[in-house]
Amino acid sequence: TDRVFSGIKPSGDLHLGNYLGAIRRFVPLQNDFECIYCVVDMHAITVWQDPADLKRWTYEIAAAYIAAGVDPSAHIIFNQSQVAEHAELAWVFNCVARMGWMSRMTQFKDKAGKNSENVSLGLFAYPSLMAADILLYKGTHVPVGEDQKQHLELSRDIAAKFNHDFAPSIAANGLDEAYFPLPEPVITGPATRVMSLRDGTKKMSKSESGSDMATIYLMDDAETITRKIKKAKSDADALPSEEKGLENRPEAANLVGIYAALSDKSVAEVLAEYGGQGFGAFKPALADLAVSVLAPQADEMRRLVADPAQIETILRNGADRAREIAAKTMLEVRDIVGFIR
Ligand code: AMP
Ligand code: TRP
Repeated sequence: TDRVFSGIKPSGDLHLGNYLGAIRRFVPLQNDFECIYCVVDMHAITVWQDPADLKRWTYEIAAAYIAAGVDPSAHIIFNQSQVAEHAELAWVFNCVARMGWMSRMTQFKDKAGKNSENVSLGLFAYPSLMAADILLYKGTHVPVGEDQKQHLELSRDIAAKFNHDFAPSIAANGLDEAYFPLPEPVITGPATRVMSLRDGTKKMSKSESGSDMATIYLMDDAETITRKIKKAKSDADALPSEEKGLENRPEAANLVGIYAALSDKSVAEVLAEYGGQGFGAFKPALADLAVSVLAPQADEMRRLVADPAQIETILRNGADRAREIAAKTMLEVRDIVGFIR
């Protein structure tokens, strides 16, 4: 059976990239799949997090899932650290994955920079915990932004190597030979990689963009959203009427992609409407659209985070349901690996 799993790290304020690349895609999947949406607090601490900030961002992400339209009674919303099986399976995967695989992860290389002697061991092992997140639930579909593609390929490699290395034991335990499914990324449509509003060649991110004008935060108010879009870097030309005309115009391509995603249209449809018009006309339209989609969600997020006890109940309830599935997988994994229980 098919199951969706995805997660976001509580390591900074949520932004438009998180929304368009991930959260927005979580919502329609609920109609076709059983969905599990996680706040991956154990991933967040691979780099230092102030404990009070970690809590605040955990509430904020849970609130964003709900405000966007994830239904916590029909599907599961929880924070990773409440289900200890994530750490347990990650350890087994640490022993399946190879050092070489981890060394090739571009996100690790970017984050470690030149100073890899001094990053946490957890940051290196990060993808193995991510594989555990998904595979504990035998997740088959993983909605994420473009930047997570490589991590997902590694999850597939871990699943395949586990199935292969333990094939005789999997069979001896009467389990399906494709014990872990190979999870597929769901990276479709426009804005799978939202770029900085100040530099169309840099990814929009939680903290790394030098200027705050580069990032639209999900909690920004209407006036701030409008100001950031109107000041966004663009160029002097009119918008093209075909997608090909966006090549070598990274800022224009980014803004059109954002418009398309926010309006649930394709880039081609947006260009059919705005081709020939300049940014003087396009930016105000984009600002209005962004405000109309994001501002009501920001209001709902503010309302939700004002009642942390309610969010805690949702997370605890989600964790209880997640643990039931996870515990069953871990019983099988212990048998497969040869751990006595
Ligand atoms: P993170 O904040 O790194 O935990 O990312 C959470 C989710 O947001 C992941 O699915 C990312 O791929 C996605 N994401 C983060 N930044 C962007 C971006 N600039 N454009 C599109 N998706 C993004
Ligand atoms: N690595 C993801 C990110 O940085 C977050 C994440 C952790 C995740 N576990 C996951 C995403 C499982 C999808 C599925 O964005």
